[in-house]
Amino acid sequence: MIDHYTIERILDAAQIIDVVQEYVTLKKRGVNYLGLCPFHNEKTPSFTVSPAKGIFKCFGCGKGGNSVNFIMEHEHLSYPEALKYLARKYHIEVQEKELTVEEIQRQTERDSLLVVTSYAARKFSEWLHHSDEGISVGLTYFSERGFRDEILKKFEVGYSPSSFDALTAAATADGYRREYLVKSGLSVEKEERIFDRFHGRVIFPIHSLSGQVLGFGGRILRSDAKAAKYLNSPESDIYHKSRILYGIFQARKAIIKEDRCFMVEGYTDVLSVHQAGIENVVASSGTALTQEQIRLVKRFTQNITILYDGDEAGIKASLRGIDLVLEEGMNVRIVLLPDGEDPDSFSKKLSVEEFTRFLGEHETDFIRFKSELLLKDTGSDPVKRAEAIRDIVRSIAVIPEVITRTVFIKECSTIMGLSEAVLHNEVTKLLGQQQFRDRNRYPDAGDLQIAKPRVPREIIEKRAPSFYSEKELVRLLLKYGDRVFSGEAGEGDNPVVMVADFIVHEIVRDDLSMSNKVFGEIFSEFRFHVEQGIFPGDQHFVRHPDPEISQLSVDLLADSYEPARIWSERQSYIESEDRMLTELVQDAVLMFKSSKIKEMRANLLEKISAASAAGEMETLSHLQKQVNALNKLLLGISKDLGGRIVL
Ligand code: CTP
Ligand code: MN
Repeated sequence: MIDHYTIERILDAAQIIDVVQEYVTLKKRGVNYLGLCPFHNEKTPSFTVSPAKGIFKCFGCGKGGNSVNFIMEHEHLSYPEALKYLARKYHIEVQEKELTVEEIQRQTERDSLLVVTSYAARKFSEWLHHSDEGISVGLTYFSERGFRDEILKKFEVGYSPSSFDALTAAATADGYRREYLVKSGLSVEKEERIFDRFHGRVIFPIHSLSGQVLGFGGRILRSDAKAAKYLNSPESDIYHKSRILYGIFQARKAIIKEDRCFMVEGYTDVLSVHQAGIENVVASSGTALTQEQIRLVKRFTQNITILYDGDEAGIKASLRGIDLVLEEGMNVRIVLLPDGEDPDSFSKKLSVEEFTRFLGEHETDFIRFKSELLLKDTGSDPVKRAEAIRDIVRSIAVIPEVITRTVFIKECSTIMGLSEAVLHNEVTKLLGQQQFRDRNRYPDAGDLQIAKPRVPREIIEKRAPSFYSEKELVRLLLKYGDRVFSGEAGEGDNPVVMVADFIVHEIVRDDLSMSNKVFGEIFSEFRFHVEQGIFPGDQHFVRHPDPEISQLSVDLLADSYEPARIWSERQSYIESEDRMLTELVQDAVLMFKSSKIKEMRANLLEKISAASAAGEMETLSHLQKQVNALNKLLLGISKDLGGRIVL
């Protein structure tokens, strides 16, 4: 944990312009800066930076935030990682809160393991390139398989000598502890003896996102029916096979640039495809693809192309992978290679151009892939055909987004010659089944799915009628809260002086509250501060530790300089908004009140119909009176607003 004081210092030092300018060329436009967005492809700039507010906002892709958010997004770091990154850059010492003994132990354990693995990777690589045995056995093997030196170096490929304890001996002599050699899986202890797990194999180090060596894969050189072709590091504090993608460190940049990631099966596939000039490629390395691995890719792109062997195992693995990717709400395409080929062998048979062309021409979406595959051997058997269709529908149903589902239903209907309505029905039926949902819980729908199983996500998100007026009030608070409010709404001797005072006062006086959770939280923080006579300022919210609050604040603050307004009429817009501030604020408060009154009225009307059904005349007239009173209030407000609300 980094303490609050340090976070403040980091944020003070890391001025947004400074931070962004490292990555984006910015041009000054009025009070803001403008450039090409680093988070999506664009030709005309819509990426704005406001030094005054300390935020960036892209009006193309919608990303926005403060300096830390920018680094998080750009470097793909977590919040604390991004803070530390900036701290290093601006020479601020980070005082982390004290860790528990257990946390410290874990930390040092991990560090010790990483020190050993990085040593071993260096050693293996040295042995491959500089020892007699490494050169004559290892390098020869790689060059016979067509791997060039630069690719071996890029992936830090190595060689573990055939003597049974070369690494263990070297590491021990260099002062590394036996304990960590064993825990990292590099050495294996058996009875009294200790030997190298990978001896006599070529070595593929497995890197983390940031390039640390987490583990190794070692391939045997001779074909030996008894020994496994590959040995991998065992699970440890640093190596969790299900969370690792081989090649992600080397592929990261290319994945972002190409906005797509190729998924292959093996170490050598990654190397070969990379060598063929396609660098956005990673491998699941012999494990069935996991959700964690897919989420790792999701940090960089929404698009995965599965590139597996055309044999039965490859097809099975592709089918499994498809649903996992779809469940994450990502796009999946499939390229099957000719039977008997894997990306490694196939890419080497073709020229770089031919290989790239092959990928382009043979890429299919999952509907086409599945239907071709499943319909191939159904023949005219209607039962089998129905089974195949159900299978495809199942894949469509795991997609969390309704729009995407609809698109695929359309395609499926065309390919299978079935009506869209029938397919829609099937999907809806599946989604209605508890069993199906349990197996395919959407990760971000969370508890909503349990509480309201039948309500689709897109309906849950429906907003309260007062949503927009709440949003506008919060926007005005954030943006103009400290401006002088020149209205005459104060009470007697106690004139209201600032916009924030006025808004808070008006809402508290009528005992109203905001329906939206985040707006409500921002409002009550304003209220708290205003009541103590301090103005929190927009930075308080932009830097808020609650990411929902800070994100929303950024969006609202950015709202007022949308490019359309900035470029054509920036000056006049901002000026006029200033001049009309008092009116704007009064209107917003009235709008909010009227939406709240309408809410109350709707509640009363419901009670009225219940009472009238039950024949409770007394209650009925009582309720009617209340409704009349509300109508009167609304009429008054409408007049104040110049008739701008619908009664
Ligand atoms: N694998 C493994 N253990 C094995 C076999 C395979 O861990 N005994 C993993 C490796 O990560 C391997 C991947 O599964 O890279 C794919 O296996 P395979 O296609 O058999 O190997 P290739 O990568 O094609 O290796 P090579 O080209 O050297 O034969
Ligand atoms: Mn292979």
